[in-house]
Amino acid sequence: MNLLEHSINTLVKEDIRMASFFQNEKIDFCCNGHRNLGEVLKEKGVDEKRFMNDLKEYKESLDGNGEKVNFYNQMDNEELIGYIRSTHHTYTRSVLKELDQYVAAIVKAHYRHDKPLLLAINSLYGKLRVELHEHLIKEEVDLFPLIMDGRFDEAKKEIEVTEDEHDAAGNLLAELRKVTNDYTLPSWACTTFSATYHNLQELESDLFRHIFLENSILFERF
Ligand SMILES: [Fe+2]
Ligand SMILES: [Fe+2]
Repeated sequence: MNLLEHSINTLVKEDIRMASFFQNEKIDFCCNGHRNLGEVLKEKGVDEKRFMNDLKEYKESLDGNGEKVNFYNQMDNEELIGYIRSTHHTYTRSVLKELDQYVAAIVKAHYRHDKPLLLAINSLYGKLRVELHEHLIKEEVDLFPLIMDGRFDEAKKEIEVTEDEHDAAGNLLAELRKVTNDYTLPSWACTTFSATYHNLQELESDLFRHIFLENSILFERF
């Protein structure tokens, strides 16, 4: 199989551990997972040969490191929705709760050290938390019950809205990554500042996998 002619999410569908490879390469496997890998590499100016060699090496290292992680392919809709809610929705809400406190604390403590940076983090994080809280409850109350009740035509309309919201969250995370210079800690960073960057990166990783399970696994069933 020539992977370059397939969608980005092909390998992640087989084994979610491949998500880390695409994340490190800054190739969007969740919101844009349906796009053609070869086209995206060209667009980003990535050296195909180098990329494919690294991908092969990464995949081989995983093959030697236990079973594939692809439980989601065996789950029915109800099980997958239950998994997404209990794992990703619960985690997102708990990390946002911590981040609410951390972001408020670092703005107060460090505004004078780098005003544009602290204002940008405060504003982008503020938008992200509002987006995510709304998004999670809309899935739980509006979309998931439609799927569970087998009302797939109505669900498809709601899925379009949901995917737009995924894009919006992905864009805010990309902006956060940009303003923080890939989460590089400034010299004056305190423990709370480090914890903020750490949690934002964990939230990003978790959200990428969460969106992948929705866009590329669950929603593709309809
Ligand atoms: Fe979700
Ligand atoms: Fe979602």
